Amino acid sequence: MKVLMAASECAPFIKTGGLADVVGALPNVLAGHGIECRTLLPAYPSLQPLLSDGRQVAEFHDLPGGYGQLVLVSAEGVDLLLLDAPQLFDRPGKPYSAPDGEDWPDNHLRFGALAQAAARIGMDGPDGWRPDIVHAHDWQAALVPVYLKQANCSVPKSILTIHNIAFQGLFDPSAMGHLGLRGDWYHPEGLEFHGALGFLKGGLMFADRITTVSPTYSSEILTPEYGMGLEGVLQARSAALSGILNGIDTGVWDPANDPALARSYNARSLARKAQNRAAIADRLGLASDSSGPLFCVISRLTQQKGLDALAGAIPHVVQRGGQLAVLGTGEANLESAFAAGSSEYPGQVGTLIDYDEEFAHLLQGGSNAILIPSRFEPCGLTQLYGLRYGTLPVVARTGGLADTVIDANAAALDMECATGFVFDQVTTDGITAALDRVFDAFADKKTWQTLQRAAMRQPVGWERSASAYAQLYKELAS
Ligand code: ADP
Ligand code: GLC
Repeated sequence: MKVLMAASECAPFIKTGGLADVVGALPNVLAGHGIECRTLLPAYPSLQPLLSDGRQVAEFHDLPGGYGQLVLVSAEGVDLLLLDAPQLFDRPGKPYSAPDGEDWPDNHLRFGALAQAAARIGMDGPDGWRPDIVHAHDWQAALVPVYLKQANCSVPKSILTIHNIAFQGLFDPSAMGHLGLRGDWYHPEGLEFHGALGFLKGGLMFADRITTVSPTYSSEILTPEYGMGLEGVLQARSAALSGILNGIDTGVWDPANDPALARSYNARSLARKAQNRAAIADRLGLASDSSGPLFCVISRLTQQKGLDALAGAIPHVVQRGGQLAVLGTGEANLESAFAAGSSEYPGQVGTLIDYDEEFAHLLQGGSNAILIPSRFEPCGLTQLYGLRYGTLPVVARTGGLADTVIDANAAALDMECATGFVFDQVTTDGITAALDRVFDAFADKKTWQTLQRAAMRQPVGWERSASAYAQLYKELAS
């Protein structure tokens, strides 16, 4: 069985969020199920150095946006197919936006080209490698099923995974022609979404199967509250929709063997977390003599993540003797809210406005709890890293957060199966009430350690979900 992953991010090569972790991890875990993956990625600047080690397997002269060559290269145990179209991808800035923060004006061409290359690999099988399935991720690859359908191609089958329905790839309808899309498909039963061309909408209409990254989110997106306008489309396609929970790479995220930690540890040597906490305190200028819990946030700083409500709870954290370490980048008002927290409470609140993979590991290693008050969360990975590191997740009851954290209620505490704290209201009051429960539990060292050990026992790897994907591929291919 051969599967082509088509995505705009893949760790460790290019990452803005959890999509990259998932796309990076899947090929290896699927290999264990006899599935051979290749991963199609744009050759962004960070991937350019790999090109010289690779081999050209195809050339496309008429992609949206022009010429592109396809280069096959193995790196970090993954077979990458790099779409090398420098005029589209080899430029400074971020994958989706220019250095000034504005979306690239030609994103429709850039990701239209990615999708069209994927569809052609599916149809032509360059290098003698033709996939049975093309697995497209998020809006950036969502035109794959559309191009396959437009070519009347029934093999390979297509799967579209929604990692976040808030990002839909909406463009001016005039882009249809530049993308080589059938003009008569621009209507509400096709590619049109409220007067725009919708990449995700189109993919959802035409994909053979649709998945999303947790069972709860797969139900939530059928409702107007979470569906972001696509709930009707998803209801109509609900027979093709399922939720498969993300896992994490337990090799990369392993507190017993993590080069980013000051001290490694396991469930029997939790006291060693203190040395990691000391390293965090050093880096962020936090007081080193605090006996309260250290909370961390590792996140894109956006509305989705509920961090505006959390910022309001900073005085309460400090007043109860806790400390807060924040690592993130994003919306300007949130960056300043946390920076202001650090200035107001020096020694108790530390903020690093940056993207720093290594420090993210250290924060998981040295904090006592990780705060994730998301308004919606398709899956969420940082709570899974928290579980693995005995850094108890404090999460809103939504999406994958609800599916992965067992609340420390009385019954779960009695059964010694609680792994974190789950709350309902994403407001400063709701978060404050949850924090109070955390402070109380933290004060009882035995309870806290029981929680940590249960968290660290929880399976967070890919085993179960890899089987679910493998089964889905097999069903579809037969
Ligand atoms: P999302 O994809 O919505 O941003 P996830 O929880 O699925 O949320 O994944 C976020 C990923 O990005 C995690 O691997 C997390 O550790 C990482 N991350 C987020 N912000 C930062 C940051 N500022 N520095 C380092 N890693 C970060
Ligand atoms: C998205 C979601 C996040 C999910 C990630 C990987 O970025 O916001 O919840 O974990 O994709 O699937």
